[in-house]
Amino acid sequence: MREEKSNSTSVNLPLLKIGKYIPAYPLVQGGMGVRISASGLAGAVAKAGGIGTIASVGLGFSSKYYTGKNYFESNKLALADEIAAARIIAPDGIIAVNCMVALTDYEDMVRTAAEKGAQVIISGAGLPMQLPEYTKDFPDVALVPIVSSVKAARLIIKKWDKLHGRLPDAIVVEAPAMAGGHLGARAEEVFSSEMTLEKVVPDLVEFLAAELKVDIPVLAAGGIWSREDALRAFGMGARGVQMGTRFVCTFECDAPDAFKQMYLEAKSDDIILVESPVGLPGRAIRNAFSEKLSAGPPEGHRCTINCLKHCSLRTEKTGFCIAKALTAAHKGDVEEGLIFSGSNAARCREIVHVRDVIEDLFGQGEKAVAKGKHAACRKLTVTDL
Ligand SMILES: Cc1cc2nc3c(=O)[nH]c(=O)nc-3n(C[C@H](O)[C@H](O)[C@H](O)COP(=O)(O)O)c2cc1C
Repeated sequence: MREEKSNSTSVNLPLLKIGKYIPAYPLVQGGMGVRISASGLAGAVAKAGGIGTIASVGLGFSSKYYTGKNYFESNKLALADEIAAARIIAPDGIIAVNCMVALTDYEDMVRTAAEKGAQVIISGAGLPMQLPEYTKDFPDVALVPIVSSVKAARLIIKKWDKLHGRLPDAIVVEAPAMAGGHLGARAEEVFSSEMTLEKVVPDLVEFLAAELKVDIPVLAAGGIWSREDALRAFGMGARGVQMGTRFVCTFECDAPDAFKQMYLEAKSDDIILVESPVGLPGRAIRNAFSEKLSAGPPEGHRCTINCLKHCSLRTEKTGFCIAKALTAAHKGDVEEGLIFSGSNAARCREIVHVRDVIEDLFGQGEKAVAKGKHAACRKLTVTDL
């Protein structure tokens, strides 16, 4: 832990080390698709001392590469461009790419991210069992699964150790009660006391340290907005926080103004759960599109690109085309697009700069430096699990 001196109080901030990388602040900006966190936001966060994350999902659709027939190829090319652009903004920053297991081109996105210079790959929306295999030629790329339970973390660790002899470099615990986008829980579990940060973060920290005796930093995500929220998470044993919603209302965020305006105008009861065709609930802001969903697939929604491994629109003709809905939102159609957001959208009041958010969270305190001795992760054997 390092001591941060603020104007009136002095608190300990954890030193976050993810693989070889130590950000100045114990902060990851969560990946937000489609194109809500691309190079602009990720680069700005990385430049300001956090880890900036590009969401890899569906980048091709709205790129110059998309011909109407080459969705998967255009995704790879567009991701490479976003990584390069973020690197120009933050030459010395830490750039991560978020890759969702649920996507058909998950492997391509992971391989492209590693080849094109992402330092960290953060992966959820399913269990990222093959992530080490897809990145084995890039041992410096740090690998970070997102989980909602200790059980999921345990399964990942067991499989990675057995098949790949590798441990996660950090684990993000995303609690579904307030997080934005797809939630890692069934609809009936979203508000369960078993899936809160207060329950899962300390349980996972204890499991890793006491039972497995490995040093894997845990990050808390879902509902973190303020310095107090972050300090509370650190008090639970988290060594970092992952934040999404608060970064949408920044100038640097890649979302269009109309999308940010939805956040500025949202009240608590405008933030709802929708059933995504992925088979998971998602949190979003109520609009004309979400209102129509109960009546069945909206007009013009057919599966044309096969972007998801499992999609209810493709197999059961229920739900909607998530690629179309999220791309529409990115293009500023806030009536017919799906406006993913966390519960904290209701707290967005103004558009600010990324550096102001980080300043508000962590003040001007002395930045973390790579002084702390980090216990090397010992090699696990399957019998440990
Ligand atoms: C607009 C939006 C899009 C998101 N898209 C993704 C995504 O593509 N992949 C992912 O793993 N998480 C996604 N998330 C989740 C965030 O990365 C983050 O973990 C979560 O929102 C944290 O909770 P908070 O928004 O309360 O800070 C998304 C969240 C939002 C608000």
